[in-house]
Amino acid sequence: MNELAFQEVYDLTDIERNQSVSVNVNGERVIVCNTEEGFFAIEDRCSHANIPLCGGYIKGTMISCPLHGAVFDLKTGTALTPPAFENLKSYEVKIEGTTISLREKLSNE
Ligand code: FES
Repeated sequence: MNELAFQEVYDLTDIERNQSVSVNVNGERVIVCNTEEGFFAIEDRCSHANIPLCGGYIKGTMISCPLHGAVFDLKTGTALTPPAFENLKSYEVKIEGTTISLREKLSNE
């Protein structure tokens, strides 16, 4: 089976609690979020109007789109509130020392 490799993307000490950064994973923009339950990563793209989610308000393990406020679950990429309805891809997060590595989840379960 072809399993995607983890890709090193960032140093976790540079992401403050309830903040996000945008990184590149295999040519796709992904946000890494430091939440009260740990680090999570989903596509950096609101599925309502395709703008970046990076910098959106993070509460618990959810992020709000900075433009119209659609809320996404950072653990799964699920669109939780209108006006976004399409779920986003989510990424597995691996932490070694202070290095964050990501790889795309094969499914959201
Ligand atoms: S662009 Fe994100 S909710 Fe509209």
